[in-house]
Amino acid sequence: MDHFCLKNGELHAEDVALATIAEAVGTPVYVYSRATLERHLQVFREGLVGAGLGDPLIAYSVKANPNGALLAVLAKQGAGADVVSAGELLRAVAAGIPAEKIVFSGVGKTAAEMRIALEHGIYQFNLESEPEAEMLSAIASEMGKVANVAYRINPDVDALTHAKISTGKAENKFGIPYESSLVAYAALAKMPALRIQGVDVHIGSQLTTLAPFEAAFTRLGVLIGQLRDAGHTIETADLGGGLGVPYDPSEPLPPSPAEYGAMVQRVTAGWNVRLLFEPGRVIAGNAGVLLSQVIRVKQGATTPFVIVDAAMNDLVRPAMYEAWHDIRAVRPRNSQIEASVVGPICETGDTFATGRTMDAVEAGDLIAFATAGAYGANMATTYNSRPLVPEVLVSGDKWAVVRARPPIEALIAGDSIPDWLE
Ligand code: LLP
Repeated sequence: MDHFCLKNGELHAEDVALATIAEAVGTPVYVYSRATLERHLQVFREGLVGAGLGDPLIAYSVKANPNGALLAVLAKQGAGADVVSAGELLRAVAAGIPAEKIVFSGVGKTAAEMRIALEHGIYQFNLESEPEAEMLSAIASEMGKVANVAYRINPDVDALTHAKISTGKAENKFGIPYESSLVAYAALAKMPALRIQGVDVHIGSQLTTLAPFEAAFTRLGVLIGQLRDAGHTIETADLGGGLGVPYDPSEPLPPSPAEYGAMVQRVTAGWNVRLLFEPGRVIAGNAGVLLSQVIRVKQGATTPFVIVDAAMNDLVRPAMYEAWHDIRAVRPRNSQIEASVVGPICETGDTFATGRTMDAVEAGDLIAFATAGAYGANMATTYNSRPLVPEVLVSGDKWAVVRARPPIEALIAGDSIPDWLE
């Protein structure tokens, strides 16, 4: 459920007409709903707690949407953070997420990033290789600190999602191979400045069925038993993120947090650990739309092209993952057209929808790309020298720009021409 609804015939974010924001800020612009964001975190938490999972750490995956205002909303609701860079870590801390609720994931943590995380005293490092563990141990020793660690286990499970966001197959770069886990933990136990805290798994994103999660978690449960038999103390199990969200209303709904929670409860019964979760998309996805204006409608050889002022640089998901985003007119005319929706960028991949049956629109109309709150603004670029897309947060009848559109002059001023070219 989200708070983007028609009121008096026009699309609103909570109590604010999207047209008001478009008028004031210009388009394209991302618009987020605070109430939706809060609700999603609450529903996710209730799905776990309601299933009897105690008091898990919900470490919001910052990469889904790292805007400081959104992080501040989630921090106030008690969320922790899953980060994959020093930038994400510092943003989470700046927004009020305490270090003791932060886990650090990722295959390529650098020495500098490890130092920053150790200085802040984060809750857990999710390590992905032995060389990484050795580097962390050396740095922590040097700093006189002890790092709490888990290994991310690659369970060799197919998440049945898009290949580019599937992370738990043996051939993927993530985690340590399941089969070598016992040997890897034995080596970890000998590294001086590391304290083994738990285990970790994350098999992919936008999962629309529970079976792959269940297969991965079941393997993790077996491993926990083996690790304990080998004498290791396992206090935490991080089950990652990945729960999908509905993008295309004609597709079956993905499992609800309650269904997910019930499955986790069943699979993890008796594990005797604190559970950690790293949800990203399920928290932020439906809490945002990308608002855009139709520049013109052009008749193509087969279908009309609706040319909008948002492009693949603002929302790359359709071009990158063949992703489907619902497209809604902000002031629907109660008629439909079949059209392709495209941006102004000089690539055929700059296509948001092909042969889509959608609200009829004309030049000057506003449209909203739905479910754009996760992996939207944050993946934007300045390709084709288009300034980064701005972001707005709505709360009831209030709204504020939470990231401004940089002026084109800033783009030009960012380059420097070496003296020796003169
Ligand atoms: N934990 C780890 C270690 C991750 O790598 C990710 C996402 C998450 C948690 C959060 O997953 P979520 O709950 O959001 O599915 N840009 C892509 C998605 C990339 C996901 C990367 N990792 C997209 O737009 O679909």
